[in-house]
Amino acid sequence: MGYVGWRPAQEVLVNGLRRLEYRGYDSAGVAVADGKGGLEVHRAAGPLDNLVAVLPDDGVAGTASGSSAALRATTGMGHTRWATHGPPTDRNAHPHTDATGRVAVVHNGIIENFAALRAELEAEGVELTSDTDTEVAAHLLARAFAADPDAGLTAAVRAVVARLQGAFTLVFTHAERPDEIVAARRSSPLVVGVGQGEMFVASDVAAFIDHTRDAVELGQDQIVTLTPEGAVVTDFHGETAKTRPFHVDWDIEAAEKGGHDFFMLKEIEEQPTALADTLRGHLVDGRVVLDEQRLSDQELRDIDKVFVVACGTAYHAGLLAKYAIEHWCRIPVEVEVASEFRYRDPVLDRSTLVVAISQSGETADTLEAVRHAREQKARVLAICNTNGAQIPRESDAVLYTHAGPEVGVAATKTFTAQVIACYLVGLALAQTFGTKYADEVAREYAELESSTDAVARVLEAVVEPTRALARELAQSKAVLFLGRHVGFPVALEGALKLKELAYMHAEGFAAGELKHGPIALIEQGLPVVVVMPSPKGRAILHQKLLSNIREIQARGARTIVVAEEGDETVRPFAEHLIEVPSVSTLIQPLVASVPLQVFAAEVARSRGYDVDKPRNLAKSVTVE
Ligand code: AGP
Repeated sequence: MGYVGWRPAQEVLVNGLRRLEYRGYDSAGVAVADGKGGLEVHRAAGPLDNLVAVLPDDGVAGTASGSSAALRATTGMGHTRWATHGPPTDRNAHPHTDATGRVAVVHNGIIENFAALRAELEAEGVELTSDTDTEVAAHLLARAFAADPDAGLTAAVRAVVARLQGAFTLVFTHAERPDEIVAARRSSPLVVGVGQGEMFVASDVAAFIDHTRDAVELGQDQIVTLTPEGAVVTDFHGETAKTRPFHVDWDIEAAEKGGHDFFMLKEIEEQPTALADTLRGHLVDGRVVLDEQRLSDQELRDIDKVFVVACGTAYHAGLLAKYAIEHWCRIPVEVEVASEFRYRDPVLDRSTLVVAISQSGETADTLEAVRHAREQKARVLAICNTNGAQIPRESDAVLYTHAGPEVGVAATKTFTAQVIACYLVGLALAQTFGTKYADEVAREYAELESSTDAVARVLEAVVEPTRALARELAQSKAVLFLGRHVGFPVALEGALKLKELAYMHAEGFAAGELKHGPIALIEQGLPVVVVMPSPKGRAILHQKLLSNIREIQARGARTIVVAEEGDETVRPFAEHLIEVPSVSTLIQPLVASVPLQVFAAEVARSRGYDVDKPRNLAKSVTVE
């Protein structure tokens, strides 16, 4: 984040960084003018509060290590870090400075040629003081500015970005230009906040929404020069660049915890609304419509194969897309983690549709998969929760999930919203291919709409009993999850939630695979969560899963069974039964996932962990 204006910059920055902490929280730092023609930089490993503890407060406080002049500074920058190069220590925290301490920079992304630049600087006698890829940018800027101070800071930044390769969104300040902040964007997002006599720049509007709701989104390879009077945006060659001004109309309250201890718990409860908002407005005159479509109907009709690419939880949503799209459209669908997809030379052409799913819309692996697909002339459809993010911008068609901001690192409401969005995409394709008549599409759509009530009923009925169960099992060594058919992705997702939040060994398996290896893991007292299909649907699946439960029970497992209300056949085999409403096959993953989210959150809480900020993770993984 950067600020230039009339308020005390340090305060603006710290408040802004609090809102950005979800993007990374292993260290933080700020740099402001020191009142003596230099910069005052404070950095601290750990959460933002560690930084706050070392910042000057009123110039008198004992913990303060800085000057009171810094409190009056009205220009500055700040950063919360998620380490890529170098461990999360004080010295690797941003901002980084040049040797004179007159230039400071904060950075998101990875400068891929930093080793060569570092060697070049060292050969010139520059001493680098951190392990980061970022620091080279500070030294390069100092050198470029010194070479021609009259050309200005923006020209110097332009010279620096011309030397960098990789992903870099950078914010610079120079002590000799106390009323100026210059930022450059390649890859990671950057938004400018336009205030009265003050300007902001940040990765997310949340950082400055308390001060202004007028924003400008920076495009790829653009540089913005901020002074209190305004912003000038140019491209990397110095030409005036086009920008996209917008007004932020969502309420910051929406990103507050709403009375819960953790954002994640609030976000779990928001799922019925997230589903309803995602569906809203997508059936128009009996036809399913996407949000953006830069493809003709004929181009869509020509699609003969679908790849779904995504990471983590979004990948699990993608696995469910396969069931729906193949069933409704009779077209082959492959689902793959984005990081594998692009490196294995997939067979793509202009009749391939790549569906990229990403909550943030900036996950580096998914973004690169999209770029690879487009290079091969494939069509790309994005499912994204972040308006205007890079992945939808680079796609041919977009369907937004309207889950609202998700602060908890663990995806919950965005997962179920992604699943429903995948189903909408399936219906849109079915109507295009003519594999479903309009009345069938409308019936399926109504079925999707019914999911909001079903999820609301799960929330009413299962949250408290599931939490009690989670507390009982919180000290388990490991937990396994089993499912079949659409229950399999649910099992994978349940295990991922438990891993990432409770740091517990958790694995999800296709129940049919049990006998091919995983059953060897079963030992006395091991909790196994089983996601049962409906006895009313494909009875054969239900029976097979009952047999699996018997097999693991016979080997001493504790069975926790998620099953449909009224499924009496499973009761004798369930040590703990979690009943969810009876819904159609494709809606079942939505209702069955909710108790598993609650379970993971409560196990983590019982173990004393921060549910919203699990260790080693970040909300948006913008590096590969
Ligand atoms: C989910 O709980 C995770 N935090 C993670 O797997 C996440 O879903 C993944 O990193 C993908 O993120 P995206 O949806 O923003 O692309």
